[in-house]
Amino acid sequence: NSTVAAGMITEPSASVVWHPAAVSRSDRATRGMTVWLTGLSASGKSTIATELERRLVAAGRPAYLLDGDNLRHGLNADLRFSPRDRAENVRRVGEVAQLFADAGVVAVVSLISPYRADRELVRARHAAAGLAFLEVFVDTPVEVCEARDPKGMYARARAGEIRGFTGIDDPYEVPVEPALVLRPEDGDPATMAAKVLDLLNRP
Ligand code: PPS
Repeated sequence: NSTVAAGMITEPSASVVWHPAAVSRSDRATRGMTVWLTGLSASGKSTIATELERRLVAAGRPAYLLDGDNLRHGLNADLRFSPRDRAENVRRVGEVAQLFADAGVVAVVSLISPYRADRELVRARHAAAGLAFLEVFVDTPVEVCEARDPKGMYARARAGEIRGFTGIDDPYEVPVEPALVLRPEDGDPATMAAKVLDLLNRP
């Protein structure tokens, strides 16, 4: 009695029963949500996300950064970069973000999350749970990312040392209706973080 999507089990066994909580969302002191930054490697996602988390916490708002690179050291250490592993990466981070959001925390996610369908599943899960999900597209052109190349990954991908690198020989599917698009001409990472903050402070 399980649903299998892309080879993965996405529904629990029928013998697993949901336990209702004694604390409702309105009982909590703060309102959580997920801010999901998507874009190419070296697009600036992590820098913006780090600054956003810092600003939120400085303002007294509980926030927590879920960074793709960091999570791949623990929770997602078993995953690589095949389409299936990326889908599972996005699914897991989406579920964790949702738990933070449910707990009243602003989950700030920084993940390439290159495939639209994977991001849409996360959006749908949040919607079903009544949790806000703000998709922020860090729209830095691949030429700019490649010129930055802080970790030398693009050079290695061009040299054929890394196969299936997003933007080089693996696709990045742009968001259809992002809540916000950030482009290099929008300013430095701090200015971009301020724009995201403005957005999530809107009633
Ligand atoms: S994904 O696609 O959402 O599952 O990726 P993510 O978890 O965000 O991890 C991205 C970082 O992993 C490095 N890396 C790769 N990126 C893309 N494609 C391939 N094949 C790949 N191999 C390793 C890459 O440096 C990303 O780091 P960031 O911080 O995004 O620059």
